[in-house]
Amino acid sequence: MFIMLSFPLLLLVLTGHIGIVRSSCTSKLEKSLFDDLIGMMLKLKGTEHIAYRKELRQNDIPAFTAYRNSAQRLSSNAIVKFDKLWTNNLSAYDVTTGVFTAPIAGLYHFSAVVMSISGKTLFLHLWHNDSKTAGSYTNGDGHKTGTFDVVLTLKKGDRIYLRCKGGHDSQSIYSDSDNYSTFSGYLIAQ
Ligand SMILES: *[C@@H]1O[C@H](CO)[C@@H](O)[C@H](O)[C@H]1NC(C)=O
Ligand SMILES: *[C@@H]1O[C@H](CO)[C@@H](O)[C@H](O)[C@H]1NC(C)=O
Ligand SMILES: *[C@@H]1O[C@H](CO)[C@@H](O)[C@H](O)[C@H]1NC(C)=O
Repeated sequence: MFIMLSFPLLLLVLTGHIGIVRSSCTSKLEKSLFDDLIGMMLKLKGTEHIAYRKELRQNDIPAFTAYRNSAQRLSSNAIVKFDKLWTNNLSAYDVTTGVFTAPIAGLYHFSAVVMSISGKTLFLHLWHNDSKTAGSYTNGDGHKTGTFDVVLTLKKGDRIYLRCKGGHDSQSIYSDSDNYSTFSGYLIAQ
């Protein structure tokens, strides 16, 4: 309503249709009217911006980083349990199962860094419910790190986790007190 009323007025000012009478008084009025309109437009934009930020308050956003500070031995198809937490807003990541469950539908970003035992193969996938998405395969001398980086559209209740490749028994994910292995995820947009 307000914009509809003020917008034609702004156009008139901009195109010079107001101010046909060229007295110093009208041009002063013109200038202050113009400043007021610009100020109001900026204020309206500002309100929008604040509303957007409010929507992204920390308490409303599922966001987690879980990590390990010890190795985990993994049988075939086992889920990696990142059993320590730095962040777990909305408590959507479960340290006892290693599974993130989306509390709200939306676009999510997930990433993980997984370190192998020195000289040992580590073959994992990031799973979305009962389907594999990205894989990470590391092998060779020394410790290697595999990484995951995906953006996924999730429905409420969808599960995300890292799981051992089937048929690859007795793998281990490495970590120690330097916290080498981590798993993170957060909502980008609803
Ligand atoms: C979300 O994170 C903020 C900042 O770390 C914290 O103050 C708040 O308690 C967290 N909320 C939940 C529900 O975990
Ligand atoms: C994923 O699994 C959950 C139950 O664990 C189910 O509620 C949800 O609909 C599934 N999502 C898809 C995309 O199949
Ligand atoms: C690993 O993370 C824990 C928890 O934040 C921290 O106390 C510890 O200092 C970290 N390890 C190292 C070597 O920084």
